[in-house]
Amino acid sequence: MSALKIAIIGATGAVGTELIKLIEHSQIPVLRLRLIASSRSAGRQIKFRGTSWPVDVIENTSDAAFDIAFFSAGGAISLKWAPRFGAKGALVIDNSNAFRMNSEVPLIVPQVNANTLASRPNRGIVANPNCSTIQLVRALRPLAQAFAIRQIVLTTYQAASGGGLRGIDELLTGARGVLDRTCEPTSERFPVSLAFNVIPHVGELSGDGVTLEERKLVQESRKILGMPELKLTATCVRVPVINGHSEAVYIEFSDCVPLNKARELLAREPGIQLYDGASCRAYPTPRLLENAGDVHVGRIRANPDDGRGLWMWVVANNLQVGAALNAIQIAELAITNRLLGEQ
Ligand SMILES: NC(=O)c1ccc[n+]([C@@H]2O[C@H](COP(=O)([O-])OP(=O)(O)OC[C@H]3O[C@@H](n4cnc5c(N)ncnc54)[C@H](OP(=O)(O)O)[C@@H]3O)[C@@H](O)[C@H]2O)c1
Repeated sequence: MSALKIAIIGATGAVGTELIKLIEHSQIPVLRLRLIASSRSAGRQIKFRGTSWPVDVIENTSDAAFDIAFFSAGGAISLKWAPRFGAKGALVIDNSNAFRMNSEVPLIVPQVNANTLASRPNRGIVANPNCSTIQLVRALRPLAQAFAIRQIVLTTYQAASGGGLRGIDELLTGARGVLDRTCEPTSERFPVSLAFNVIPHVGELSGDGVTLEERKLVQESRKILGMPELKLTATCVRVPVINGHSEAVYIEFSDCVPLNKARELLAREPGIQLYDGASCRAYPTPRLLENAGDVHVGRIRANPDDGRGLWMWVVANNLQVGAALNAIQIAELAITNRLLGEQ
């Protein structure tokens, strides 16, 4: 296939930086790269496959057309600009939550619902799900396909990088301040300071006591798994981890499910690393993940008081599995299936 014109909007952010690294090492042929960020970063140069590419502002792209545009600069930028890029022929892969629940926009995790990209989507926009949703549905897929699920209850343990580069900075600066006893940590990116703390509040908190992150997990999982009636309830918690989200997931099936069968299904699932409970591989932890492109599942165990209940501990690199890598896998799917505008 011919080399592609690619735009990355939010190229200097936590997700954008991972996107550039992953595309650089992928098989995607790149003719031209357009790197977009805010005016604060305009003029910076970023190296990609041996060439330096300048960072520009989005307003300067108005007469350019792209094959693929990755959007990672927040919902407001996506709402305004993604339809314009799509109208000019780009396949837009949007990391924000601007279009995820739009019924005309596919919400894709390639390992789960690649089939929803079968035809070129309306207005050219494909949505990338929320980071905590992606790792959850990838671990749930083989179990949900084999057994009827009654309900799912989970708690997330989400890293500072979910709040972008400023989230990481705030955690590190805050931690240094506490250790040196020089200053009280600040809390601009998170509701209260995150250093040496745990915050049961991710995303806007609404009147019914549910946060936006918890609502996204429920709605997006239903859409991706094609299970509109799925009963799922979550508490999303921010923890002082730099990168890597963890989830404690309790699945209650309609009938008893043999533990061995559940393990076997997860072990066979591509892209899942299973931790079998033996000594050093008893469970995954976010700081020590090795294969950043996989979803890591450990501590699979039955509820001793109810044979229909099963627990698992699910960990993934939120910047890769939960954002950049998923977006690139959508792009690769579109390339393989010849779904780009000019193919
Ligand atoms: N972090 C995650 O784990 C994660 C996972 C899934 C989805 N997402 C979503 O991905 C998006 C980016 O998140 P992030 O974590 O990468 O945030 P981030 O580190 O704060 O990066 C934000 C990026 O957007 C750019 N930007 C800000 N205002 C802009 C403007 N007016 N025009 C063009 N670019 C602008 C920033 O440029 P400057 O550097 O110049 O400010 C930066 O490149 C968000 O929508 C987020 O919800 C994040």
